[in-house]
Amino acid sequence: MLKIYNTYIHIPFCERKCNYCDFTSLKGTDSQIEKYVNYLLKEIDIYSRKYDLSEKQDTIYFGGGTPSLLPIDNLKKILSKFYYDKDTEITIEVNPKTVDINKLKEYRKLGINRLSIGIQTFDDDNLKFLGRIHNSQEAIEVYNMARKSGFENISLDIMFSLPNQTLTMLQNDLEKLVNLNPNHISIYSLIWEEGTKFFRDLKSGKLKETDNDLEASMYEYIIEFLKSKGYIHYEISNFSKQGFESRHNSIYWENKNYLGVGLSAAGYLANVRYKNFFHLKDYYESLNRNILPIDEKEILTEEDIEQYRYLVGFRLLNKIIVPNKKYLEKCVSLHKEGYLIERENGYILSHKGLMLFNDFISNFIDI
Ligand SMILES: C[S@@+](CC[C@H](N)C(=O)[O-])C[C@H]1O[C@@H](n2cnc3c(N)ncnc32)[C@H](O)[C@@H]1O
Ligand code: SF4
Repeated sequence: MLKIYNTYIHIPFCERKCNYCDFTSLKGTDSQIEKYVNYLLKEIDIYSRKYDLSEKQDTIYFGGGTPSLLPIDNLKKILSKFYYDKDTEITIEVNPKTVDINKLKEYRKLGINRLSIGIQTFDDDNLKFLGRIHNSQEAIEVYNMARKSGFENISLDIMFSLPNQTLTMLQNDLEKLVNLNPNHISIYSLIWEEGTKFFRDLKSGKLKETDNDLEASMYEYIIEFLKSKGYIHYEISNFSKQGFESRHNSIYWENKNYLGVGLSAAGYLANVRYKNFFHLKDYYESLNRNILPIDEKEILTEEDIEQYRYLVGFRLLNKIIVPNKKYLEKCVSLHKEGYLIERENGYILSHKGLMLFNDFISNFIDI
């Protein structure tokens, strides 16, 4: 029986939809959230009959949506399905408006030891423009409360390349960010996702995309600045203090197995990648029939698995990828073109590869 060591749990509720976001999230009442959690527990039970869930979990990740909307009791019920201890990395994504000091202390009591707080920016006008429900002062207060509650591993999410954002505005954000001294930082350039308010405003001409050169300068500035403040740039969008890399997210980049549960959650078990239903109705109906709520399945061949090793592996900037025979020639030529740096008997991404990652990685598709 396949043993499960890592689990992702999706909580698809948000108090309000942000203008740029297309993650699966709904506005849920307390009773809808309660109902959802009961189905989630049922899904985990079905998995526990199919796979071995009795091993100590290495990582558990509550992602969303806004998992911090869940009442403590619900989190407790979900966690009771797993075996874990203080060495398990248990992360919960937090929107600053949805927690207080009591909730944070309860998280610690439950064994949750890592927070990922959605800050996005410290600029109050931009926070409003993004449709966030908190201001920058509230976000900073939650960070300080989390430290007081005993959290020693805190990650902050920031966005850049926002419409009308200047380099100076970004520099201000970064100063405030490092002043808080988080252990980990995820920093994403705005993606114009179809179906969002931002996307509609872009199409109607109300908003404009950031100029490519400015976006590249911003990214280069972020890298240099955060490195100068002692952060390791370990993945394209992720920085951390030594020893605080996200163990859970590294599973995705290292192409390791994980269980994914919840609405629209993805998972990778044995050689199967799967994705759950996107609509609650389908998710519930399937579980009512005691069937796993899987919408899409992809069975990976050995070749597919090898290809993934490059597609996701090169995202980890300090991990040496040793190519097999089939990919050696490709890597040699990408090295000649300056996209890769030779290390021991393998390769890591160069600065050029990092700046032109999409062009670079397209070389590994349909090879
Ligand atoms: C699913 S959210 C979880 C955090 C929590 N829901 C919150 O927003 O506070 C994960 C992160 O993805 C990023 N994100 C969401 N939509 C994005 C987009 N369109 N472009 C770039 N980053 C995005 C944001 O930084 C966000 O904090
Ligand atoms: S960014 Fe976070 S809070 Fe905003 S809609 Fe997306 S998941 Fe919800």
